[in-house]
Amino acid sequence: MSLRIFRSVAVIMCMMSSITLQSQSMEIEQKIEDLLSRMTLEEKVGQMNQYNGFWNTTGPAPKQGSAAEKYEHLEKGWVGSMLNVRGVEEVRAVQKIAVEKSRLGIPLIIGLDVVHGYKTISPIPLAEAASWDLEAIQHSAAMAAKEAAAAGVNWTFAPMVDISRDARWGRVMEGAGEDPFLGSKVAAARVRGFQGDDLSSPSTIAACAKHFAAYGFATGGRDYNTVDIGTATLYNMVLPPFKAASDAGVRTFMNGFNLLNGVPVTGHKLLQRDILKGEWGFDGFVVSDWRSIGEMVNHGYVPDGREAAKRAVEAGSDLDMESYHYLEELPALVRDGSVDEALIDDAVRRILRVKFELGLFDDPYRYCDEEREKTVVGSEEMEQAVLDMARKSIVLLKNEGDLLPLKQTGQTVALIGALADDPDSPLGSWRLAADDNSAITVRQAMAFYEGNTLVYEKGADVVVGPTSFVRDLETNTTDKSGFDAAVAAAKKADVAVLVLGEHAFQSGEARSRTELGLPGVQQELLEAVYAANSNVVLVLQNGRPLALPWAAENIPAIVEAWQLGSQSGHAIAQVLYGDYNPSGKLPVSFPRSVGQVPIYYNRHSTGRAAPFDPGTVFWSHYIDEENTPQYPFGYGLSYTDFEYSNLQLSAKTINRGEDLTVTVDLKNTGERAGREVVQLYLHDRYASVVRPVKELKGFELVELAPGESRTVAFTIDESLLSFYDRSGKQLVEAGLFDVMVGGSSVDVLGATFELKATGN
Ligand code: BGC
Repeated sequence: MSLRIFRSVAVIMCMMSSITLQSQSMEIEQKIEDLLSRMTLEEKVGQMNQYNGFWNTTGPAPKQGSAAEKYEHLEKGWVGSMLNVRGVEEVRAVQKIAVEKSRLGIPLIIGLDVVHGYKTISPIPLAEAASWDLEAIQHSAAMAAKEAAAAGVNWTFAPMVDISRDARWGRVMEGAGEDPFLGSKVAAARVRGFQGDDLSSPSTIAACAKHFAAYGFATGGRDYNTVDIGTATLYNMVLPPFKAASDAGVRTFMNGFNLLNGVPVTGHKLLQRDILKGEWGFDGFVVSDWRSIGEMVNHGYVPDGREAAKRAVEAGSDLDMESYHYLEELPALVRDGSVDEALIDDAVRRILRVKFELGLFDDPYRYCDEEREKTVVGSEEMEQAVLDMARKSIVLLKNEGDLLPLKQTGQTVALIGALADDPDSPLGSWRLAADDNSAITVRQAMAFYEGNTLVYEKGADVVVGPTSFVRDLETNTTDKSGFDAAVAAAKKADVAVLVLGEHAFQSGEARSRTELGLPGVQQELLEAVYAANSNVVLVLQNGRPLALPWAAENIPAIVEAWQLGSQSGHAIAQVLYGDYNPSGKLPVSFPRSVGQVPIYYNRHSTGRAAPFDPGTVFWSHYIDEENTPQYPFGYGLSYTDFEYSNLQLSAKTINRGEDLTVTVDLKNTGERAGREVVQLYLHDRYASVVRPVKELKGFELVELAPGESRTVAFTIDESLLSFYDRSGKQLVEAGLFDVMVGGSSVDVLGATFELKATGN
């Protein structure tokens, strides 16, 4: 076939597939209208009602109490969706009631927090973001979707795309960190992964971008708390990942618990109706967060549930998660003319649209195949995927004297710390369908390296007593009875590996902390072991940035291993023993102390960024701490070394509408093959809304053999030079721009160009 014919065929095929898609969606719209015309008001409102899994669904129908009432609501067609029902047997049981007993037989959409894996758990999202590997992140989401879909689930409440600068907030673990550019790329990759190209495939599920919006800016890092941010921060920092998710075709959004500048986001019309559904053209649906419609009463925004339902639906919240106010209040509100039925119809259309797209009307049991469930859930394919993601997520923070990688033979290794032998904590706090205690531990994985002698000592527990999802954990602040044995083991060993950090349930929802050190007596354990043997490798397992100034100063090797999921131990052991060369980079700044929080790299300059005269005090700083973080955004080491040189710009001056090419040479100057994340930052020197001192605007993953060099190129187009003003308008302003390229946000080569006011 000649190139011309090939191109023509490709164009025709493209056109045909877009025509097919258009006609499919027209067909869906017709079906929606037909169904809507046959629905009673109660049935419409029923579609807007979501219930939690509530009784042993596979047992007999409940006879009394709220479970009986909810069962009856399912039969009446007053429930559009359920969450926390999982496994083919359970999902089939509830779907059967909706489809076979309700008048119109509309299938349920079944949601679950598949946040990082379903049963086979991948690294927490913050860790995945540390890979900066969008392909791997997309694949990880695709595998999670495949596993969840095989277990009856067809909708995940993920990705969480909240930007956060506050390590005290426990849900930092659930997002992609502090940067809107990286956050946007990760958001889109995860949406593509969950949803695939075809939502009706039984291996893909609908995704949900949450929590719309600004939940990550809670005052004091205290979960569910008030958010007060300026509009420039809202448009430039908070909204971009949501926009990226919307552009990637995410089918649902979730609002949130927080106030945004005095208005609960669940009742926020500007966000949901004007920006999301208006400006961005989003035609999927918005689910409330758990009881967040009802919580508008607690906020003091509305007097009662009736007004809450009215405000929420007017603002664009389509589906009520567990507050019951829609079901209880909306029919009467419509009948007495307080709420326009057109708003109900709009919400129902959106919900039905996603159900049609998922193929639930063609076959409500398409996610309910027992055979597929058996072969897919927990399969080798899942384990491989989470192991690959776990290795890529690890960040090497320090490696003085090349203590790492460890020698594989002839060594005695003292492995210390309760977390080294804890098969539960690596699963993190969002692992609804995983078996408890099912992660590979570091202790188990290191035992595979039989050329060395492995001695394990717990040293100290992280928490006291049994753990569970609901109760607050009590940290062990007193029991040091295991210290002596740990110190003795370290003394006799060539090297001590300490696995320290947070228990799974010390980060996550409602797990805010005021301290960012190692919980309990772990810091003392670290110091005691170090005093006995200074060859210490500290492996951190945590769901948020920690502030560990003593360790950063004294411990020769530090590995950030987050909560890496089901295969955690293998990933960590492979990195410690050099079978995998780490390449992760921090997606958040690690503070030196909690008092520096919020700390983030893309800050603004001040009028007093440095002292006027050396030694004077009147500049923006602390008198008892540095301004800089312990470990900056974008930072991470490798077992090899990379050298950056020869930063070149294709022009010193460009006109409006013209692109600029930036090139840099990267060389692997070490002795191992390695992977580097080459990062591009820009600084718009002066603007009508002041721009941060640097902003990530591009990154490339480059793999190089020892001695190999490559020229890496970035194209800077006008969208990368733009920003949002305080009314949400996107602007590009002429002036000088600094270009910075390097292996972290602080280690960069620089150049400058000018954007002229003239051009296309
Ligand atoms: C969380 C959401 C989650 C929902 C359902 C809420 O408490 O904020 O992120 O999706 O529960 O489990």
